[in-house]
Amino acid sequence: MTTSDDVYTEPAGRIYERYSRYVNHRFARVVELIGFDKVFTRAEGAWLWDQGGRKYLDFLGGYSVFNVGRNHPRVKQALVDWLQREGASLVQMDCSPLAAVLGQKLAQLTPGALDTSFFTNSGSETTEVALKMARKSTRRPRILHAELSFHGLTFGALSVTDDRMWREGFEPLLPGTAVVPFNDLDALERELSGRDVAAFITEPIQGEAGVRIPADDYLPEAARLCHKYGSLLIVDEIQTGFGRTGRWFACDHWGVEPDIMLLSKALSGGYVPVGAVITRRAIFDKVFEDLAHAVVHTTTFGGNAMAMTAALAVIEVMEDEGLVENAASAGAMLTEGIGRLAPRFEMVKEVRGKGLMIGVEFGEPRSLKLKAGWKMVHKASQGLFGQMLAIPLMRDHGILTQVAGHNLDVHKLAPPLIIGQDEIDHFLRAYEKVLGDLHRFPGPLWDLGMTLMKNSISW
Ligand SMILES: Cc1ncc(COP(=O)(O)O)c(C=O)c1O
Repeated sequence: MTTSDDVYTEPAGRIYERYSRYVNHRFARVVELIGFDKVFTRAEGAWLWDQGGRKYLDFLGGYSVFNVGRNHPRVKQALVDWLQREGASLVQMDCSPLAAVLGQKLAQLTPGALDTSFFTNSGSETTEVALKMARKSTRRPRILHAELSFHGLTFGALSVTDDRMWREGFEPLLPGTAVVPFNDLDALERELSGRDVAAFITEPIQGEAGVRIPADDYLPEAARLCHKYGSLLIVDEIQTGFGRTGRWFACDHWGVEPDIMLLSKALSGGYVPVGAVITRRAIFDKVFEDLAHAVVHTTTFGGNAMAMTAALAVIEVMEDEGLVENAASAGAMLTEGIGRLAPRFEMVKEVRGKGLMIGVEFGEPRSLKLKAGWKMVHKASQGLFGQMLAIPLMRDHGILTQVAGHNLDVHKLAPPLIIGQDEIDHFLRAYEKVLGDLHRFPGPLWDLGMTLMKNSISW
């Protein structure tokens, strides 16, 4: 097998066997147990095709990466054009014209006076840079983060990520970090009032925590309190950014201007890893304080031409196709559609979201038989119930979804922002059927739960 052979034509079993042997056999086993062990050979827009030619509707979006859809022809063409011009990337002792234009574009799109970008290669790295910026620009030690936060898994990012599962075994983490309850301004003020806090970092809507949306005054007040006590507000828009919530940035829903904004995921349309830390010039200048510190933080691949080209093409596509507006209207249709189904299914507790970042929360049923099933499954594993939705959606209806985070009964939907009525109808028909099956106990989905329990799957 060489790189010139078409690795996608090998039998799926052999591909998974090789992956298990040389990459991550534990992950391969999980994927196999939940029946997601496909080999996807083609993708277009909101759709994927497997080796057998079966078509799947992508409501996972590569975890909020493919906002413009997969293989968008204009993003692809921009990258092909770049490759064909045999241009010079990563010269290092130059200033990239593409990075300059993307920086300018981001300054225009992001709220208020955010005007200076630092380009990275992933979400976690973006968090790292922001934490360093906060420490050095304020010369203060402490960093606050919200309960149930997720900001990535490298050491600094993990230090401000509040989930035991991710942290266990890797401690001690960065000193000086502390958790505050999300959506609790009094708790935030108590911590800030010591005037030793460099920054409070938060997602505007918590994604991994199950699409938790704060009260309308939370972010504006958090910004005001940070400024009152001389701390910075870092808003992580890595998941919520680039139109996902029906505005360019979730901050825009509340008119909030953070001191530092984090972007990654959808910024380059899924083709090339990329990230951006965007701040104000005054903060930037306290970190890159003079010529001797002009590159006091740097990264080899930051601002590389492919990433910048893809990001610029993505912004053009989003503007020309009105994808931010579509996220708002398609999101409203999808949320309303699920909301209409909800009263018939007692385990659906809440349907919430903004734009196309939607969480469907499930809770313990009242009827006795279902309650017994619910208890049994949750006793075995807190994360198992969500798979009883994701598996039949994938297996029986060809719809790719997943749960919001660990040990939560929240099913998360993050389709590309290009979806329309057809995809929404297709999803709602399938969802109605799966919810119906889930509310029959005993029934095939509870048998599936038993099988998962036997295989000790936890998610
Ligand atoms: C809000 C948020 N921040 C940071 C990250 C980390 O990004 P990455 O996986 O690219 O390191 C993620 C990833 O899911 C995220 O959702």
